[in-house]
Amino acid sequence: RGPALFAPERANARGFDLADSTELDRIAEARPRPERLEVGPIIASAVAGGAREPILNPATGEEIGTVTLAAPEDVEAALAAAQPWDAAAEARAEVLTRAADLYEEGFGEAFALLALEAGKTLPDAVAELREAVDFLRYYAAGAARVEAAHPAGPRGVFTCISPWNFPLAIFTGQIAAALAAGNGVLAKPAETTPAIAAWAVERLRRAGVPDTALQLLPGDGATVGKALTSDPRVGGVAFTGSTATARRIQAAMAGGLPPGAPLIAETGGLNAMIVDSTALPEQAIRDIVASAFQSAGQRCSALRCLYVQEDIAPGFEAMLMGAMDELSLGDPRDIATDVGPVITAAARDEIDAHVAKAEAEGRLLHRLTPPSRGVFTAPALLRVAGIGALEREVFGPVLHVSRFRAGEIDRVIAEVNATGYGLTFGLHSRIDERVQRVADAVEAGNVYANRNQIGAIVGSQPFGGEGLSGTGPKAGGPHYLARFRAAPAPEFTP
Ligand code: SER
Repeated sequence: RGPALFAPERANARGFDLADSTELDRIAEARPRPERLEVGPIIASAVAGGAREPILNPATGEEIGTVTLAAPEDVEAALAAAQPWDAAAEARAEVLTRAADLYEEGFGEAFALLALEAGKTLPDAVAELREAVDFLRYYAAGAARVEAAHPAGPRGVFTCISPWNFPLAIFTGQIAAALAAGNGVLAKPAETTPAIAAWAVERLRRAGVPDTALQLLPGDGATVGKALTSDPRVGGVAFTGSTATARRIQAAMAGGLPPGAPLIAETGGLNAMIVDSTALPEQAIRDIVASAFQSAGQRCSALRCLYVQEDIAPGFEAMLMGAMDELSLGDPRDIATDVGPVITAAARDEIDAHVAKAEAEGRLLHRLTPPSRGVFTAPALLRVAGIGALEREVFGPVLHVSRFRAGEIDRVIAEVNATGYGLTFGLHSRIDERVQRVADAVEAGNVYANRNQIGAIVGSQPFGGEGLSGTGPKAGGPHYLARFRAAPAPEFTP
């Protein structure tokens, strides 16, 4: 007899114990020596190849390789060759599960690429690989079920457009869902992270995904992205990135895709956390620092505006600044690094300009010193009247703090809801009734109480927002795959 009846059907990836030095040695040995990266389109036919662009290491600004972008002929050839994945659901699930195993076996290369190309610290790279593996196994487990529940068939061919901040996990998650549901995929990776995308596609293909069911087309949004979101041969689009880009994609789709083709978009956030006077300060501070500064604040889920109850605010803010001083900034490959670089010099300049403006207005409360080399910006804490004063999502390690008086929680929630975004929200309080009331009132896809507000876990914390933050359904949740299946023909009523 197999495992006990109550054993889970599917386990999340185990990951690595980074407190164990033998585990760290194992990772160090598995990381290959950096070689020059050479990547390009992976399509079903021979590649023509367009412009060649440098791939940069954000930690140093150095060129670490070259990406050949997809030429218009490559995009056309991929569109012409693309097919739904014509295999039984069980067979698709088996291949995706095998791909998960290949991802896990390749952990050394994945960690090296995530650090070199995306500036990921080791804890972030470990979490990212686990999430990618979890997506593969979770959607594989749903393949047969979604087919039975939605027998009208796959949508056809999906365009998947993914962001640089989770260049492996979100890249893989979109593709795995589309493939599990029986579609073919045309994937456009983020411009700054083509190499980790190519690594993933090679593994998916080695596991058995046919070449007409998965093609990779590196390129920019204006050419490759536009072509892949406006062509009638595409049956749907999965996109993660900014709200503004999602709007452009929606407009492009309206001009070319078949009627009813879905856009599954996960977009930006302006995420808040409330800390009331009953919160446990040590726990809240640890969770705030992780939510705002882990991944150098480059998560759509990251905390942007902290509301602290006035009664505890002076001591609490001082403690927060002290905790910020403990963060170590540096090369993401160094195990001691908490905060790595931001993705590009342009991103750094935009973040720095935002902090400089606040400083000029006398609102800079605290800032660390960035390393002198590479594309770094230092974690900063800024005073702000409320979340309504933030004009936009500043995508970096910048936390804004506001104070509220006892009795003003409803005002704070109204302010947070008025942003129109609704991705993550955090609350630290030991009053159960308040936790429940706030969770009910706040309009956000993922609400977290007495913990950090990043790092949703596939299968247990489906992730996605509402309003300007996304269309749903949530990734890593039970409803996601259904959207990748065709809707049944409407019944005809004369
Ligand atoms: N899923 C990530 C998180 O929860 C963000 O994309 O932090």
